[in-house]
Amino acid sequence: MKKLTDLKVRFVGAGNMAASLIGGLIKRGFLPSQISASDPGHHQRQLLTEKFGVHTYQGNNEHFGIPDVVILAVKPQIMKIVTQDIKHSVVETGALVISIAAGIKVEHLEKWLSQDVSIVRTMPNTPALIGEGATGLFANNKVSKEQRHLTEGIMDSVGISHWVDEEFKIDIVTALSGSGPAYFFLFMEYMQKTAIELGLKPDVAAKLVEQTALGSAILAQRSADDISVLREKVTSPKGTTESALISFNNNKLERTIKQAIEAAYERSVQLSKDFL
Ligand SMILES: NC(=O)c1ccc[n+]([C@@H]2O[C@H](COP(=O)([O-])OP(=O)(O)OC[C@H]3O[C@@H](n4cnc5c(N)ncnc54)[C@H](OP(=O)(O)O)[C@@H]3O)[C@@H](O)[C@H]2O)c1
Repeated sequence: MKKLTDLKVRFVGAGNMAASLIGGLIKRGFLPSQISASDPGHHQRQLLTEKFGVHTYQGNNEHFGIPDVVILAVKPQIMKIVTQDIKHSVVETGALVISIAAGIKVEHLEKWLSQDVSIVRTMPNTPALIGEGATGLFANNKVSKEQRHLTEGIMDSVGISHWVDEEFKIDIVTALSGSGPAYFFLFMEYMQKTAIELGLKPDVAAKLVEQTALGSAILAQRSADDISVLREKVTSPKGTTESALISFNNNKLERTIKQAIEAAYERSVQLSKDFL
């Protein structure tokens, strides 16, 4: 089985996500010579070359070589055009194709590339930009065990990843962890705003909210207790937390969150249909 550090990886699209994945791979021990990227933007290419020393090209087919993995890191709207650029090279080399584009289903990629190509569709999230992402993965039936392993190695270089066994579950991942950072940001924003209204200085409120979110997430990760048990442990009878939780409950917070995540899920399903 090929080791991660023996792989050749080609990025198509060299924007934010590609840059964070390349940074993650280099941190993991990849040599710059194992990685190449194509992007029409001169600035993006220069940035990658200067920061990571990887080879970059203007044309998607330029110096394509024989990569083991091709990572499609362009916006969903231009995915169809980009797949036409690399179709022959991908089919000829038998490379594994990993797409990080939201809303592009495996059936789209099979239609634009070929039914015989090994394809993994992923759904990362923005904390991947700082190496703390959460990614959902779905493979078509051409993807081998070894290729699954390689995919995990690549995506885990910017956080954690989990496989789903049916593609519709990527829409759930999209509504949960894909959009999830915005839910937490909104919650933090409202907490901060209220603390300022009650009299805290903005910078103090911001720091306390950030650290509370971070500390709670780390505690949830490290603790053997369920989240609900952790919540109960903070909630003394007739105490301050209980007052807040009763207020959340009276204002139907659970229903609000359920409806919001269901709305994101339905939107994700709809967006995927729009690409067909
Ligand atoms: N950012 C996230 O946290 C996140 C999370 C989940 C999924 N995603 C997905 O990741 C993908 C990339 O997102 P991103 O945030 O990295 O976007 P981005 O920064 O805009 O990167 C996309 C890059 O593709 C380049 N590009 C445009 N046309 C191209 C072509 N024909 N061939 C090759 N490259 C081309 C763009 O250049 P120009 O700027 O010059 O057009 C840009 O540098 C998207 O599909 C998005 O849905 C991102």
